[in-house]
Amino acid sequence: MPLMPWDKTLDIGVAAMNDEHHDLLDIMNELYDAHTAGKHGASINALVAKLGAACTEHFAHEEAYMQRVGYPGFDGHKMLHVKLLTRYGEFAGQIRSAGGEANDEFFHFLKFWLNSHIKGVDTKYAAHAVGVSR
Ligand SMILES: [Fe+2]
Ligand SMILES: [Fe+2]
Repeated sequence: MPLMPWDKTLDIGVAAMNDEHHDLLDIMNELYDAHTAGKHGASINALVAKLGAACTEHFAHEEAYMQRVGYPGFDGHKMLHVKLLTRYGEFAGQIRSAGGEANDEFFHFLKFWLNSHIKGVDTKYAAHAVGVSR
């Protein structure tokens, strides 16, 4: 069972960013499925690294997009991305030290963060972008 399936409440109205959010959820769910199937070790570490890289790439795309549309909340949004990646790196380090054993706290963090960041924060630059492009 996926940790967090895609649904329409995650649609921020910017197709390219929706696609990337969808990809992040897919990787997160793949990781969660591997964890709940009892996997650990290199395969989990590889998925944690893959998700971290996808988040880093997504944030860079999102930041470029916010600058392109002149989003006034850019600085605060970027700071949230930096904090999230820092926290993610801490979890990834713990998981590696535990021999590729993920844990509930990590999945709670992922689910809460993706949900609240997309719905509460990403929607704001999206609303701004729609306003300037029409
Ligand atoms: Fe964001
Ligand atoms: Fe995002």
